[in-house]
Amino acid sequence: MPGPILIFDSGVGGLSVVSHLRHRLPGAALIYACDNAMLPYGLRPDEWLVARILAVCQAAVAASGCSVLVVACNTASTLALDALRTHLSVPVVGTVPAIKPAAAVSRSRHIGLLATSATVARPYTDRLIETFASDCRVTRVAADPLVHETERLLAGEQPDQSIIDRVTAPLWETADLDTVVLGCTHFPLLGERLVAAAPRPVRLIDSSEAIARRTAQVTIEPAPAVGRDRSLATAPDARLARAVATLGFDEPRLLIVG
Ligand code: DGL
Repeated sequence: MPGPILIFDSGVGGLSVVSHLRHRLPGAALIYACDNAMLPYGLRPDEWLVARILAVCQAAVAASGCSVLVVACNTASTLALDALRTHLSVPVVGTVPAIKPAAAVSRSRHIGLLATSATVARPYTDRLIETFASDCRVTRVAADPLVHETERLLAGEQPDQSIIDRVTAPLWETADLDTVVLGCTHFPLLGERLVAAAPRPVRLIDSSEAIARRTAQVTIEPAPAVGRDRSLATAPDARLARAVATLGFDEPRLLIVG
């Protein structure tokens, strides 16, 4: 029996891949699941996070009957992909910082990585840089406050541009950095606000199109969408309901995590 495509993130960040998924897999049923009770993930300890991500994804896979899980979260993927693939029976598509495409296009060979504290410091990220950007200088910037600003934006509130400016300022300390990897799925949703924070034109690169492409490759026969796409959340939250509705999802149902 074909199942829907399950998209998982700690909060609203995974919504940044939804339009790409709908474009690649038109008519496929999607289910959005987020662990809003424990948002943000980026400041939490690794051991706790692995257990939590596994528990939430197991519960969401069981509740959705999905045919594939898209982990639309760099903080979760750079830590827990192996554990998820070991314990889940469905294919798992992960999201990791787009270091490779950024290194492929940077002319100055100086790129920035804007991500959570957890992601910028992960061995997985070190390996991506060693493998794909060994001839680049990589300026890593922990940008956890931008997760909250994105949550505010999608809830219909104004993000604070002075926070976005302050958090991204370390990227602009030297004049040659020409490409910035958005290594957190929340950040593409800030769109023009990130562009406004840059003192000069730079390329912003994220992984969402690559995730959608990969998902289409592993999804043989997704369930067709019937009515509005569904959503799941680990805590009731009216602001989240508003955010997911902007992308066409119905009101989140409570996901009980065992
Ligand atoms: N959206 C998540 C990511 O891609 C992280 C947000 C959080 O810190 O919970 O890393």
